[in-house]
Formats: sequence, structure tokens, C-alpha cells
Amino acid sequence: MTKVRRNHAEALTVEVLEPGPERVEAPCAHYPACGGCRFQDLAYEAQVAAKAEQVADALRRIGGVEEPPLEPIVPAEEVFHYRNKLEYSFTATPDGPALGFHKAGRWDEVLDIRKCWLTTDLGNAVRDAVREWARAERLEPYDQGDHTGYLRHLVLREGRNTGQLLVQLVTAEGERFDRDELVEVLRRFPEVRSIHWSENESQAEVTNLPTTLLWGEDAIEEELCGLRFRVRPNAFLQTNTKMAERLYELAGEYAGLTGDETVYDLYCGIGTIGLTLARDALTVWGVEVSEESVACALENADLNGITNAAFYAGEVGASIEELRDRAGGRRSRRPAARRALRQGPAPARPAGGVANRLRLLQPDHAGRQRQGARERLGLPAGTRAAGRHVPAHAARRDGRAAHEEGLTKPSLCRRAALSAPRRRPQSAQ
Ligand SMILES: C[S@@+](CC[C@H](N)C(=O)[O-])C[C@H]1O[C@@H](n2cnc3c(N)ncnc32)[C@H](O)[C@@H]1O
Repeated sequence: MTKVRRNHAEALTVEVLEPGPERVEAPCAHYPACGGCRFQDLAYEAQVAAKAEQVADALRRIGGVEEPPLEPIVPAEEVFHYRNKLEYSFTATPDGPALGFHKAGRWDEVLDIRKCWLTTDLGNAVRDAVREWARAERLEPYDQGDHTGYLRHLVLREGRNTGQLLVQLVTAEGERFDRDELVEVLRRFPEVRSIHWSENESQAEVTNLPTTLLWGEDAIEEELCGLRFRVRPNAFLQTNTKMAERLYELAGEYAGLTGDETVYDLYCGIGTIGLTLARDALTVWGVEVSEESVACALENADLNGITNAAFYAGEVGASIEELRDRAGGRRSRRPAARRALRQGPAPARPAGGVANRLRLLQPDHAGRQRQGARERLGLPAGTRAAGRHVPAHAARRDGRAAHEEGLTKPSLCRRAALSAPRRRPQSAQ
């Protein structure tokens, strides 16, 4: 037993006396030591069934829905090699720095990974090249126990439909490596389009940090549902590209848009869902707390020539009512959406690109990360911006949070000078 709690316990398999009918051979040589995959020895169909039961159980027990009206889970098209983003940690070995994932159940031990089944051959090859580079340069891995050393993380993001790769190296403070050498190693892979470096001065094991562009484009592109999306280092993108496309198609089918609707893309990330729905909607309003993601969403609308979508930086809970009022949600939807449109088209785009169009829905908290986001986006120093990372659970307490954290109400949108997105042009229908 590795953990015993009031409601559950965790244990590790010591020996298999007789395999169960759903046990399969795990293909990965690092299984089960690696903490990356926990169920490789369970048949995929059994994993899906267990997940369906978990969802039903949560709805019954926590949600109080006696008989949840669940549809069958849409199974993954590819069970392996599907992830478009992986975050590796550096660790010290007798042979020099190694790169891999935390051992199952261990925060302080990292396993040297030679072939990960979640990524592609390209992803594996680039990781290995960075390991060799770190050894050749005699750089010291960071030690999470005593917080010494230098190399901390390697993040690889792959546009699976475009073949473009983004690399982010995370180190402790200071430039203690030859950036030209690293760039040269990585440029041997023609797929590498964007190389970033981040310094993590804190003890926290995070990679969501301001970045310095070492070489190439500041973002890569991915293609989803026939649209192109720019993906910067910290922007959220569903990690399974193929299933993200499936998810968005299903969302479109369920929405059954007729062309008259106002779509709210809440927690919109880089705008992928809203923009895929925009062609069938009257307007799309996206809200997202990460400024970097909103900047991407604005770029993405431009990239795809979509003019009936607007994106705003702010917390959903603190801005939703005002958005609803603006779209006329309290009354009948359709006339109100039209009323919003009658306010006129969005103002002509100011010079200076996306940064000048970023609408901020929320007062500021000081913070290094936010300052970094401001600098990256070219926002003026005095701009009051919302760029704080909000963990998933924060969504639940949004309503209260605005008050409790000293964020003034009302409110965001007034400050933000919201403008209605432009009507979808006939040609885009
Ligand atoms: C799981 S991602 C989904 C993004 C997008 N809908 C997609 O499918 O790609 C959730 C997003 O919500 C954002 N987020 C989290 N809490 C938020 C909040 N309280 N208000 C606004 N956005 C928030 C995160 O920054 C993240 O981009």
C-alpha cells in the first residue's frame, strides 16, 4: 500500500499470480516505473468503460443526478503516439544529464526515457538530441531536493497536422549555456520552427513561464477542422489533436447552429472551438484568462479571415453577466444579438497588431508573470491586465473570487470597452 485515505487507498502490484481477462502486455519498456502512463496493461476498451463509470459515478454522487443521461464515450482513434505536447524533466545520472518523466508516485525521482509511446519518433529524437547536447555541454541538471543545478525542463509541442515543432528549454536563473550551440543542434531537425528559453527562479516545478525566443518564429501552427491556429509556448491546446477535431465536430453537431446565434466560447484558450463554430454562427464571443491565449485567439481569427468573432482577456465568472447583457441574454436572444451588432462594426484595427487589440476585462494583480506577458505582447507598462494563471478548480469559485481577491466589481466589461464582433460576411457562410 502506498497511500491510505479515508475514502480510498493506493497500492502497487507486487506480483501477478493469474492475469485478469482485461490485462494486456504494456508495449512501453518504461512501464510501470514511469509515472506518465498508468493503465498501459489494461485493455483500452476496459479503460474506456472505467472512465464512463467514473463520470456516471461523479454525476450521481456529487452532482445528484440519479440517472445521468450519458452517451457512450467516443474512443480515441489512436491509443499511442497521440500527444502533441510533452514536458520532460532533467535529472542527473552517472552518465550525465538525462531527460524523462517522474517515476510513478515520486516527485523527487525522474526516469531517463529512451522511447515514449505518447509522442512521435520526431518527439523522441528531439528529446534525445537535447540530452546529448546537455551532456556535451557538461550542464548540470537541477536537483529538486536541494534546489541546486541548472537544467530544469524541456517542453516539446508538435503541430501534428502541420509537422511544425516548438521547443522550450527551462533552466534555473541566468544564461549558462551557449545558445548558438543549442540552436544548431535543434535546427538539424527541419520540423523545428520555434526555439524558446525560460528561466525559472522559483522552486516550483512549472513551465508556464515568460520565454525568450532563441530562434525562429515565436509560435508554431496547428491545423484543426480545416482552420490554422498559431500556438505560442504557453497557450493551451488540446493535447490530442485528432480527438480535438472530433470533439469540435461533435460540439458543432450538438449546437446545431443556424447562423442566427451568439456563441459564447468561455474558457476559450486560443479560440479553437469558437472559431470552428464561427462559420455557422452570427457572432462568437470568447473569454479567457490568459492574455497570451487571447492574443493567439485574435491572431487565429485573422489567420483564418474570420471577422465575426471577438476575444477578451478576463475571468469568465466575473464577466459572463455583462457579456450576456450585451448580447441581450435576459431578453430574447436573437433581437439582442442583432442589437449588439447594430452598435456598429468593431473599430478599425489599430496599428501594432494583436497587442493593441487585446481587450482587458479585469483589473490587475502585480506579478512577474503578468509583466512578462505584457512585455511579450508589447502592452504598455501601465496596462491593467489579467494574465494570472488560474487553475482548473478556480472556475468553480469565479463568482466569489472577484470580490475575495480584491478585484473590483462592477466590472470588467465596462472597463474593457467591449465592441461587438463584426457580422459574419456572406462569403464566409
Ligand atoms: C482546458 S482549457 C480549454 C481551452 C479551449 N476551450 C480548448 O478547447 O482548446 C481551459 C482554459 O480556460 C482558461 N481558464 C481557466 N480558468 C479561467 C477563468 N476563471 N476564466 C477564464 N479562463 C479561464 C485557461 O487559461 C485555459 O486556457
